[in-house]
Amino acid sequence: MEVIIQPASEAASVKAAQIIGDLVRRKPQAVLGLATGSTPVGLYRELIRMHREEGLDFSRVTTFNLDEYVGISPEHPASYHRFMKENLFDHVNIPAANIHIPDGNTPDVPEFCDRYEAQIRAAGGIDIQVLGIGHDGHIGFNEATSSLASRTRIKTLTKATLSANQRFFSESEIVPHHVITMGVGTIMESRTCLMIAFGKGKALAVAAMAEGPVTAMCPASVLQLHRQTILIVDPPAASLLTRTEYYQHVYANKPDFQKVSAFPISSATIS
Ligand code: F6R
Repeated sequence: MEVIIQPASEAASVKAAQIIGDLVRRKPQAVLGLATGSTPVGLYRELIRMHREEGLDFSRVTTFNLDEYVGISPEHPASYHRFMKENLFDHVNIPAANIHIPDGNTPDVPEFCDRYEAQIRAAGGIDIQVLGIGHDGHIGFNEATSSLASRTRIKTLTKATLSANQRFFSESEIVPHHVITMGVGTIMESRTCLMIAFGKGKALAVAAMAEGPVTAMCPASVLQLHRQTILIVDPPAASLLTRTEYYQHVYANKPDFQKVSAFPISSATIS
């Protein structure tokens, strides 16, 4: 795992956007896995800026979102469909047909989940999966004790996640208890996992994920077994890491060939 500590969340978001921008320039038909929540908002803002000011072209890009609530309409202000439209899709040129978000209103959840997995495979797999992390180490909506081999499926949220997400709903509304989420195993098949985390509130989860034991009690910790995970954090989120000096030393002394791009793309995947 590569741990990159940036001076502030803004710089961390820009760094994450540069990694995605670099991929899209080198592989215009890139497949991006996307997350919602507070954390990726600055990353999406920077991608929009790169599209407007630098001509970053998303016209051949395909996207798959991690998750969606079950039972709320795509127009609901707290739905992840709406979030993605407002924070990214309305502002860049990804063709609507290339955008995939789990359908929280599907009449047949298991069939939908199998189809979502098949669509990811048919697109050639995810090149970069953007991830945030929950306070308890969840990724997507894979709560603690999720199978580390799980696939896209329905999950029941914990009380902690329900109350953390209440802020996106009005006071009188109940946060849906069920979600459709890519599984941990689905996420692990992405070629690169790009996790961003900001703030003191994420410090425990970040330390457990990067330096703790691999355990289903912290689903993000399985990323230690992924061959290409990049973790970008601000200093408060990094504050409980024990190998900070080493991470900074590694980053400051990267060989030139690693500075050009954060990850290798084999020539076979570029066309
Ligand atoms: C959302 C998702 C979740 C969030 C996590 C952190 O699509 O996959 O795992 O990334 O709950 O949320 P924020 O960024 O709001 O702290």
